[in-house]
Amino acid sequence: ASSSNTVQAAAATAERPSKQQVNLQWDQLGFGLNHVAPVMYHAEWAHGMGWKGELRPYEPLRLLPSAQCLNYGQAVFEGLKAQRTARGRIALFRPDQNAARMAAGADRLCMAEPPAELFLEAVESVVRENSQWVPPQGKGSLYLRPLLLGSGPILGLGPAPAYTLVVFAAAVGAYFKGGQLTPIDLIVEERFHRAAPGGMGGTKAAGNYSPVLKTQLKAKQDGFADVVYLDAKHDKYLEEVSSCNMFMVKGKTLSTPPLEGTILPGVTRKSVMQLAEVRGYTVEERPIEVEEAMEADEIFTSGTAVVVCSVGSLQYRGNRRKFGPTEGSEPGPVALEIYNALTRLQLEEEEDPFGWVHPV
Ligand code: COI
Repeated sequence: ASSSNTVQAAAATAERPSKQQVNLQWDQLGFGLNHVAPVMYHAEWAHGMGWKGELRPYEPLRLLPSAQCLNYGQAVFEGLKAQRTARGRIALFRPDQNAARMAAGADRLCMAEPPAELFLEAVESVVRENSQWVPPQGKGSLYLRPLLLGSGPILGLGPAPAYTLVVFAAAVGAYFKGGQLTPIDLIVEERFHRAAPGGMGGTKAAGNYSPVLKTQLKAKQDGFADVVYLDAKHDKYLEEVSSCNMFMVKGKTLSTPPLEGTILPGVTRKSVMQLAEVRGYTVEERPIEVEEAMEADEIFTSGTAVVVCSVGSLQYRGNRRKFGPTEGSEPGPVALEIYNALTRLQLEEEEDPFGWVHPV
């Protein structure tokens, strides 16, 4: 309750840049920072003090050069979207799942865990305060990026003495360049691995995302949208794409790699599994050999940023497999069905039997 009061007090007294007249270009949204929301949430934790949060203008953070996160990488993040729905309101999607995943990441990296209520209040207050930055229905969403940082100073290796929780936001459109329903071309990485058993691949740690840049940039230069990683132990099972999880379709069966510590436990991944099951698909979590994926009916990816994205082609050891009747030029029918089921539910165009839609 005390953090709630703090937020309200700050909202009441801030300069409220979010209330200024805005003229946003909704037709030109990509996945970037052209439309950053002017208000962010900022909370600090220190021993004996607990969490204290407030709304602030989107502005630089003040960190000492000795901040743990800058030196040793105590940093986890989240991604979730607020959208305008058919019922004329703004809703988040399963934010409780993001709160729980951030807490799990905090535990893995020995950081102070933001309580779920604080996390929810933070994301809700950022949405409310920046409601003008939530695009009209069908034009995109307000992407929220919560960060948990070991922000206190330290020199010897150890957990930070203080933590910062930030939630900033930006209006975004499709993640991949071609637009939401354009299939993507992927290449299987043969040299580097994303995660290893016993490592932190299953944690949404900032440190999991820069090791992929070298291969991702090379793949982009070669005309691919992103890179698929194989498991580090056998070098033959699908893991995930740099930015999203993977599904394989064969007939009425959907398969996805199991969560055994190296796979990011995606909120969209979990939702796709549940949606597919109620639509009559058999859903299995099991190791998928890349050779088997090359023979699948369809491959698609899932993630908050990418939503559900059909894979048009997959390249492995110089062989390129194009998927579907249109050779990868249109989304696969199952990917499209699941995409529609998910987005119609998120946009309240269909009943939400799961209680996933979280109006703000
Ligand atoms: C998300 O999908 O929200 C993510 O955090 C992935 C990121 C690479 C954009």
